[in-house]
Amino acid sequence: MSDEYPAMQVPAEPMPPGYQPYVPPNPDEVGVEISDELAQVVRHARRIVVLSGAGMSAESGVPTFRDAQSGLWERFDPASLATQFAWDDDPEFVWAWYAWRVGLVRRVWPNAGHLAIAAWGRRRGVQVITQNVDDLHERAGSTEVAHLHGSLFAYRCAECGHPYDAEIEVPDEPVERLTPPRCEVCGAWVRPGVVWFGEYLPQEVMEAATTMIESLEPGDLVLSVGTSGVVYPAAGFPAMARAAGATTVEINPTETEISDHFHHVIRDTAARALPALVALVAAE
Ligand code: APR
Repeated sequence: MSDEYPAMQVPAEPMPPGYQPYVPPNPDEVGVEISDELAQVVRHARRIVVLSGAGMSAESGVPTFRDAQSGLWERFDPASLATQFAWDDDPEFVWAWYAWRVGLVRRVWPNAGHLAIAAWGRRRGVQVITQNVDDLHERAGSTEVAHLHGSLFAYRCAECGHPYDAEIEVPDEPVERLTPPRCEVCGAWVRPGVVWFGEYLPQEVMEAATTMIESLEPGDLVLSVGTSGVVYPAAGFPAMARAAGATTVEINPTETEISDHFHHVIRDTAARALPALVALVAAE
């Protein structure tokens, strides 16, 4: 089976009517606690790397991985669905769950946190390493995004790995079963292009992310946003960044398993804290 991950299909949807271009807020008006020391680092950071998890998309309306699932799926644990075992046991059930998530992501929009990172990236160049399989960083305008756990929009054959580029059927309402499309090469069922528990991460993505982290130096800034820090290798990146000399910041409303690895902690949400940090740069 190919371990090449096909390029992600980013839906080229226009922003909804009235979607305002991103304008950083006045730092004094956002009400997010940022120490003078951290403000200085943010203003003068040479390289910026954002490590994002499911909390990054929470304010867009995408449930985090460890939130209670909603509706039809609330009685299932996502971790039990995102596995080869679940797929082998009942592909149509697992495919229905992913198709529901594709539809959900298609209906939501990047939040102010995604837009802040993209705006910062236009000024300074920001590299994103995400555990998320949604496309909200890209739809906000970020251009350097490494998807450690694959993408909801990069389907491939479950047997021969051939990429599947056609649109998939996305039900308006959650359904318990949906028949996956067939591979045009070998006829086997097409599977989601995400990394399931126990599977290897895409090698080229992992190598790129590791290089981004290992090449950090003093004066660089790493922001870990919206991750519980329980899944490795992603959870190991903040400590690696700190060892490379970068200043590390955790942005999360709650404490995590890796909170001690950070120089600074902002106990706030992605869509509030990131605009406040970008405002410091924009205010220069
Ligand atoms: N802003 C910032 N952080 C938030 C927000 C928010 N608005 N809302 C929730 N969070 C935080 C939660 O406190 C939690 O620590 O986001 C984190 C989400 O944690 P998880 O649901 O565990 O998601 P994540 O860390 O991305 O999971 C990692 O685990 O299940 C696998 O492959 C899956 O990529 C996923 C990986």
